[in-house]
Amino acid sequence: MASARLRELMARGTALLGSEVAILCGAMSWVSERHLVSAVSNAGGFGLIACGAMTPELLDAEIAGTKALTGRPFGVNLITMHPQLMDLIAVCAKHGVGHVVLAGGLPPKGSIEAIKESGAKVICFAPALALAKKLMRSGVDALIIEGMEAGGHIGPVATGVLAQEILPELADELPIFVAGGIGRGEAIASFLEMGAAGVQLGTRFVCATESIAHPNFKKAFLRGNARDAIASVQIDPRLPVIPVRALKNAGTEAFTAKQREVAQMLDDGKVDMAAAQLEIEHFWAGALRRAVIDGDIENGSVMAGQSVGMVTKEQPVAEIIAELLEQADAALGGR
Ligand SMILES: Cc1cc2nc3c(=O)[nH]c(=O)nc-3n(C[C@H](O)[C@H](O)[C@H](O)COP(=O)(O)O)c2cc1C
Repeated sequence: MASARLRELMARGTALLGSEVAILCGAMSWVSERHLVSAVSNAGGFGLIACGAMTPELLDAEIAGTKALTGRPFGVNLITMHPQLMDLIAVCAKHGVGHVVLAGGLPPKGSIEAIKESGAKVICFAPALALAKKLMRSGVDALIIEGMEAGGHIGPVATGVLAQEILPELADELPIFVAGGIGRGEAIASFLEMGAAGVQLGTRFVCATESIAHPNFKKAFLRGNARDAIASVQIDPRLPVIPVRALKNAGTEAFTAKQREVAQMLDDGKVDMAAAQLEIEHFWAGALRRAVIDGDIENGSVMAGQSVGMVTKEQPVAEIIAELLEQADAALGGR
């Protein structure tokens, strides 16, 4: 598989994850369930279950289902604002899950401690250098830095800039994984050379043969180009929108129209601020499921990163990982 040089560059990442290669398949709600997660781990990478809005009971079943499909390590991604976060952490602990990724904002008090008490490693997203340092002081075992090229919910800064700001300062202190916009192995090699312990990819794995995403969802990825994967835009300062990168479709247009309509209702005094903000938040509820599971790629949310143009065919996870490693090796050998 990987050359000695590549393995050496990934050594800190693989030591932390317990996998053969330091390539994480980022958790993707509805997509990252037992089949994709186990396939990634079985192929030597590191799979992550996307808990998303699952109840503790559903997560319990998903972890058990994944364990039945792989004996290799995998992790669970939890969203920090989930109302039952502590119960979800307890479910992970019950199963002896070795790695928990906390996504969607700074971890609430007690969550990092609870995960560490279970013996699991804690991995958090660091959106800026100051926050990376704060998380490190809170005892996290590793960080993910994710740029705005990524699919799904995104921050404002590009991967290349975050990598330059954070890796030189902190790469010696703890393992850091780089995510966002990675479609080929050459990019993996360059981030490893900058000090990253590994990488996380999402978009590139959506069209894996083992991914249960609806054929329409996969087709949209195969057709999509980088410029089609656009970040949602907030049109009124009173109505905050957390940007999401997705393929443009009728749904993304309707979202803009919805914001205008709600802003007008606010101007006319027909709704109060709380109701208006709720209406905006609710617009996308269920939209990802509609696209991934039901295949409604016109009105649903087809979350995808800018690397979507580098997804050219449906292929098994093992082939995707082998390709990435080959490209990374070729790049390292050529330098
Ligand atoms: C369809 C889709 C759904 C996603 N859902 C989640 C999620 O539920 N939680 C999360 O932390 N990240 C989520 N992400 C982000 C991925 O885990 C990963 O970090 C990202 O895809 C990496 O960037 P890339 O898309 O450029 O490879 C999602 C991404 C996609 C494409």
